[in-house]
Amino acid sequence: MKLTEELLEKNRSGWNAVAHHFNGQDALPGYGPYAQSEEELQLFGEIASKKVLDIGFGSGHSLKYMAEKGAAELWGVDFSEEQKGIAEITLQDHLTHLFCAPMETEIGLPKAYFDYVYSIYAIGWTTDLPATFQLIYSYLKVGGSFIFSWDHPLYPHMKSEDGRFYLDASYQEEGMLQFDNFKGENKPMAFQRRKMSTYLNALITAGFTIERVIESDVPADLKDVKAEQSDGYYSLYKAQRFPAAMIIKAVKK
Ligand SMILES: C[S@@+](CC[C@H](N)C(=O)[O-])C[C@H]1O[C@@H](n2cnc3c(N)ncnc32)[C@H](O)[C@@H]1O
Repeated sequence: MKLTEELLEKNRSGWNAVAHHFNGQDALPGYGPYAQSEEELQLFGEIASKKVLDIGFGSGHSLKYMAEKGAAELWGVDFSEEQKGIAEITLQDHLTHLFCAPMETEIGLPKAYFDYVYSIYAIGWTTDLPATFQLIYSYLKVGGSFIFSWDHPLYPHMKSEDGRFYLDASYQEEGMLQFDNFKGENKPMAFQRRKMSTYLNALITAGFTIERVIESDVPADLKDVKAEQSDGYYSLYKAQRFPAAMIIKAVKK
């Protein structure tokens, strides 16, 4: 097996084990832990009657949000059979087109078809960012938008000790971030740490025009909350001082 296939298989098996921890977490209208929501940011325009594709649909709650906003067609790709099973329950009252496949693989999804392709906290798991963005570009109609959120690229490097922040590894080196025990499920998983410029340049190379780049802040109602000092990976304390997420809107012109 090639290295990327091995990594995909390891992560797929890991996601099958951790899926139940993510039921409805990291889903629209939210853009991720301690980040503003779609209600605050208004990145999507009209959703009613639009064709949408969710990359890494997880528990299906983002697609459910799209359904509630009147989307005409609900499509999604996720490589975990377990997630697909959960999403089918979440979306049981809706007609969907859900595919169990890696986002970085050509599986014959329609080209130049979607008004919106979006992804909430899944893109960073890709083993091939350029191929993923090229595929997403090909799925969009001209004038369509790709909106995604992921950890702010500096975030996985940031550690804190007694509330003081430091970098635990070089931001310059885009090495793998390994998890031996993700969500306590004892399954090895890994994704590549990438710089902000790597994401932005991969979008540009795929043909996108970048319309918005947001380094998240905490939602308005948490801005003035006095957060308890915390060294946790995600915490209100940390997110009030440093963007937890990057949220990007790119357009196919
Ligand atoms: C944090 S969850 C996303 C949650 C989702 N936004 C929701 O609305 O529930 C990340 C998802 O990415 C999927 N994933 C990770 N790597 C993938 C890949 N290479 N191809 C397809 N799906 C992938 C996982 O199976 C998981 O469902």
